[in-house]
Amino acid sequence: MARLTILRYPDPRLHKIAAPVAAVDDKIRRLADDMVETMMAADGVGLAATQVDVHLRLIVMDASETRDHPIVLINPEIIARSEEMRVAEEGCLSVPQIYDQVERHARVTVRALDRAGETFEMEAEGLAAICVQHEMDHLVGKVFVEYLSSLKRDRIRTKMLKKTREEQRG
Ligand code: NI
Repeated sequence: MARLTILRYPDPRLHKIAAPVAAVDDKIRRLADDMVETMMAADGVGLAATQVDVHLRLIVMDASETRDHPIVLINPEIIARSEEMRVAEEGCLSVPQIYDQVERHARVTVRALDRAGETFEMEAEGLAAICVQHEMDHLVGKVFVEYLSSLKRDRIRTKMLKKTREEQRG
């Protein structure tokens, strides 16, 4: 397994639209495993392929309390969503150290293919519901900061660009 580089906002590649995975083969399984390792190493709850510059509909997440139940969702689709909405604080591995409130559906049902290419359905609530909606946004090129005001977003953009410049300078 290998750790992958996570794109940082405002990298334009974070806004690419991911294509469906045509076949769940060894290459896709390796990508999923590398994404799980990358997510764990970064102490994240979820990671979308978009964030590692692979523009395929694949996300990994682990919303378990014990942080030892990573799930792979390939070609995920939300097939049901609650009318009830919930506001919670979110962060993103592509926008390090930034947290803000986002409104999401309180519960969603997702259908996806697993690592073996089998279809499964998952009912998510709480952190898992937030996570799956957040990660699926990445697949359509949407970063959570796009839910915030343009003022906040501009501030975050400036902060991230500064951080990247400082790191490059060493
Ligand atoms: Ni994210």
